[in-house]
Amino acid sequence: MNKVAIYPGSFDPFTNGHINIIERGVKVFNTVIVAVAHHVSKKTTFTLQERVEIIREIFPNSSEVKVDYFEGLLVDYARKIGTNIVLRGMRTVSDFEYEFQMALANKTLYSELETVFMVTESAYSHISSSLIKEIITLGGSAKEMIPEIVEQKLREKLLKKQEA
Ligand code: PNS
Repeated sequence: MNKVAIYPGSFDPFTNGHINIIERGVKVFNTVIVAVAHHVSKKTTFTLQERVEIIREIFPNSSEVKVDYFEGLLVDYARKIGTNIVLRGMRTVSDFEYEFQMALANKTLYSELETVFMVTESAYSHISSSLIKEIITLGGSAKEMIPEIVEQKLREKLLKKQEA
C-alpha cells in the first residue's frame, strides 16, 4: 500500500530538526510531502516562495520527498492530495498541548485524518526558530542547528534588516 504522509509546517526557518524528521519519515512512509504553510495573517521572516525554494534545494523532488505549499486548512489540502496521514515532530512536553489541540481539531474537521508523531531526537529537541533567529541577529553561528544555505539566507535577511 502506498502510504503518503504530509509533513506540514511554517519552516521559518527550515532546521536540521526538520531534516531529521523527513529522513526518518521516509523510512516509515513511501512518500513524505513537505507542505509549507502560507500564513495569511502571520508575519514570517521568509516569504512562502523563499521557504519552498530553500527546502527544494535541500530536497530536490524525488518519489520519497516532495516539497509543496498550501493555503487554508490543512485538512482541505490533505483531501486534495488524497491522503489522511499527517506527520509531526514532537520536541518537548511543552509542544504536546499545541500538537494535541491541533491533531484533535484536524480530526474533528476530517475524521479519517491520522496525525502521526515522531519524537524529535535529543540532538535537535532544543532547536526553535526564535532561538535560531536570536543567535543570528546577535552575530552567533547556528550551524549545528540549520543547514548552511539557511544560515546564509537568514544572515542576509536579518542583518540587512538591522542595517536598515
Ligand atoms: O511549524 P508550525 O508553525 O508549528 O506549523 C503549524 C501548521 C502550519 C501545521 C498549522 O498552523 C496548520 O496546519 N495551519 C493551517 C491552517 C489549519 O489547518 N488550521 C487548523 C488546524 S489547527
